[in-house]
Amino acid sequence: MLIKNGRVIDPANNIDDSLDILVEGAVIKKVARGIKSEDSKVIDAKGKIVAPGLIDIHTHLREPGFEYKETIKTGTMAAAAGGFTAICCMPNTNPINDNRAVTEFILSKSAKEGIVNVLPIGAITKGSQGKALAEISDMVNAGCVAISDDGKGVMDAEVMRRALEYTKAFDIPVIAHCEDANLSSGGVMNEGFASTTLGLRGIPMAAEEVMVVRDIALAELTGAKLHIAHVSSAGSVESIRTAKKRGVKVTCETCPHYFTLTEDAVIGYNTNAKVNPPLRTKEDVKAIKEGLKDGTIDIIASDHAPHAVHEKEIEFDYASFGMIGLETSLPLILRLVNEGVLSLNNAIAKATINPARLFKLKKGTLSEGADADITIIDTEKEWVVDVNNLKSKSKNTPFTGMKMKGRAVMTIVGGKVVYEISDGKRE
Ligand code: DOR
Repeated sequence: MLIKNGRVIDPANNIDDSLDILVEGAVIKKVARGIKSEDSKVIDAKGKIVAPGLIDIHTHLREPGFEYKETIKTGTMAAAAGGFTAICCMPNTNPINDNRAVTEFILSKSAKEGIVNVLPIGAITKGSQGKALAEISDMVNAGCVAISDDGKGVMDAEVMRRALEYTKAFDIPVIAHCEDANLSSGGVMNEGFASTTLGLRGIPMAAEEVMVVRDIALAELTGAKLHIAHVSSAGSVESIRTAKKRGVKVTCETCPHYFTLTEDAVIGYNTNAKVNPPLRTKEDVKAIKEGLKDGTIDIIASDHAPHAVHEKEIEFDYASFGMIGLETSLPLILRLVNEGVLSLNNAIAKATINPARLFKLKKGTLSEGADADITIIDTEKEWVVDVNNLKSKSKNTPFTGMKMKGRAVMTIVGGKVVYEISDGKRE
């Protein structure tokens, strides 16, 4: 395969240039100007960005156990349509991915039915119950790239300390879902003016922020790699910024909804805007953007959290937390470029090489010899989010009807085209 005439952006190699890419089998063979190869299938990328395949480090695939929400097949189809060539799946399935058998199941099912790379994340504690450590060594040997009890905070600081200490031997990050369950108990949206007027119980910023500070202290104590998931508040950004300055090994991610929406999206009791941590305020959105800009926030991840209609079209208090995100992430990231928050290079880095480095993957770059995972992006393409066109099995997005600019027009995984659109039509 020969990808010609595109604007190649490869942040890992500081490349932003008009170049051709020759793919042989599953690897990138050559990146240069004017490559000739008569027996290759030529892909004309004129006017398009050719980027390393996007990597999402925070996806809920729901299989095993919740296949009515999403399966490995539909989740990876949604990923490919969103430009992602690799996704890391969270362990809150049923059963929880807290042992080798579940990890192996996910990997073997993904090899058979997945159309992008799937990298499992194992649980920190057995059943994500926050008590005893899960079978971490076994899971890492089976292929887990990190551990997390995502969906719940690890309330016992001693357990979190042991998890951090133990993972040092494997050099994998502990991904913290920072939430103090006592402070957040019963809350369904951000605590503030909007929750008061809606008569809904609020979750204070402090529920996230005290855990961010605690986990930073534990990372400092242990010297282990801490990655903080779905950062949503200004206070969390500031704590991470100062910790990084002190040299603590902490990285973090935010999600497109935290820099695009505020708590006002909940007004009207819109359950598709119910997410955990909750959407915050204008000031928080501003702080998240500053954190992205100054490098405090390393990664943008989707937190793709599919839920079925019956779990969302109910009273706000009872609706599940979460929104799908794989198919809307890229245009929302590109919006940051249009707003001048991030350069295109920096925006792409936060969804490619930065996640690849965190998990030590041979991906996220277009270097010669790297896996041929490539995303071709049309930054000018305008489209409107229509849930009927989304590949995800679930339709719970607050972005329905929103005008987007930019999308993946071709997704290539291991040298194979797994998704392609032409003239606005999906194939
Ligand atoms: O909103 C959320 N949904 N936040 C989480 O942490 C978990 C996720 C889910 O699994 O649905």
